[in-house]
Amino acid sequence: MFTTDCAFLENELLDVARLFKNRPESIEHSFSFEKGVFFNRFVVDGRAFSFENTGQVCDELEFKRLERRFAKLGLYRILSEKYGERMPWGALTGIRPTKLAYMERENGRDFAELFREMGVNDGNIRLVADILQAQNGIYEKVDGNTDLFVSLPFCPTKCAYCSFITAPIDKTRVFLPTYLECLQRELAVAPELIGNLRSVYVGGGTPFALEEKELATVLESIAPIFADKPTCEYTVEAGRPDVFTEEKLALLKEYGVNRICINPQTFSDETLRQIGRKHTVADFYRAYEMSAKYGFTVNVDLIAGLADETAEVFTRGVECAVETGAENITVHCLSLKSGAKLKEETAYLENDRISEMVLSSRNILQEKGYVPYYMYRQKYQVGNNENVGWTKPDKACVYNVDIMEEITNNLAVGANAVSKRVFHEKGLIERLATPKDLKTYIDGIDGSIAKKRRFFG
Ligand SMILES: C[S@@+](CC[C@H](N)C(=O)[O-])C[C@H]1O[C@@H](n2cnc3c(N)ncnc32)[C@H](O)[C@@H]1O
Ligand code: SF4
Repeated sequence: MFTTDCAFLENELLDVARLFKNRPESIEHSFSFEKGVFFNRFVVDGRAFSFENTGQVCDELEFKRLERRFAKLGLYRILSEKYGERMPWGALTGIRPTKLAYMERENGRDFAELFREMGVNDGNIRLVADILQAQNGIYEKVDGNTDLFVSLPFCPTKCAYCSFITAPIDKTRVFLPTYLECLQRELAVAPELIGNLRSVYVGGGTPFALEEKELATVLESIAPIFADKPTCEYTVEAGRPDVFTEEKLALLKEYGVNRICINPQTFSDETLRQIGRKHTVADFYRAYEMSAKYGFTVNVDLIAGLADETAEVFTRGVECAVETGAENITVHCLSLKSGAKLKEETAYLENDRISEMVLSSRNILQEKGYVPYYMYRQKYQVGNNENVGWTKPDKACVYNVDIMEEITNNLAVGANAVSKRVFHEKGLIERLATPKDLKTYIDGIDGSIAKKRRFFG
């Protein structure tokens, strides 16, 4: 049972409680503010706790921020002591750590102080500091800066763990020709809506699930958008190694793509089988070798916490990824969202095993000359860890930085695509989403285009 007299804190406090494997039977919370002091009182399983905090309140927004912070911190401390567990990110939930760090910096404060107060461990404070450092020269808050995202939610088959809204192409192929026409129409108006183009990202799904001819229509529609910026970062999340062909790779090169993703997820054939990914480690190496002559910047995605993989197997996978020489390596921690079939099958993945994996990936990647350049956390992420993008020096992906730090407009075309408009002066971000379902997206395309014109107008 959970009660609070502060409705807006309900979800935030529940998120803190969810960090812990064990949960109390009952939590009662009440809040008051008197003479500059924030009072948070809790009764947890019959035991009373009370916290008093002060902070500088300059406006309503800051007041809410502090109200949220002190309440979460109070509950985190109680549960952390009760269960003898400390979380890698302490009481930080619901906000991107790097975003919070930038906010603190902009207000002339050292973010590390706040992070320490919130119970974030030293390794994670260092991680955030390193990321901010790596984003130097990329992080740019200028109104009108825009990234283009093209959504291709089609896959060869659905992987068991996957939390993205995407479907096997044999079930959705019937929609594909009209879907591609809709993309063409959206992309035709894109130049009017884009201010300063920073990067292009074609993602999914698995763009390489499309046949060459289908892929060519998408690339052809994108080409005029970056014609005056031929060196613009241009990623295609080609994706699963089993659908790589020479023809598709040559097509990317011809159309100016300069970054691709070749994703093994794991270097264990046994895990690949268990997660229903329908390719082998050998397929990954074949796809990697096939791509080598085109000189793309390559990103390799890995996931910690898949199936019953041990820390040793995962660590060996990180070493294998490094050995390929990939410029970017992204280490995800399994997130158990409702879209993933694995959620029902996985009870609770213990913190220690995943934290050990995360730690070993950090050590190996740092030792081999990679730096962390972006990170994000998801709800239901096993071990309360995070996803981190690592890069060799000067190879960081602009798109990933922009999207994670939410510092640029995003013109997102296709189904299940969320466009963003950022107003730096006002500190405001507006969002506009297209329908998730292919048919609804296709049927509503005229309305979608009109809305986008108004949104970016
Ligand atoms: C949009 S997916 C597309 C990648 C591409 N289709 C592939 O499978 O190679 C991007 C990445 O998200 C990660 N991902 C997907 N589901 C995840 C989950 N439940 N937890 C953590 N990472 C996940 C995977 O590493 C995947 O490569
Ligand atoms: S992991 Fe990639 S290939 Fe697998 S279902 Fe998700 S988007 Fe598709």
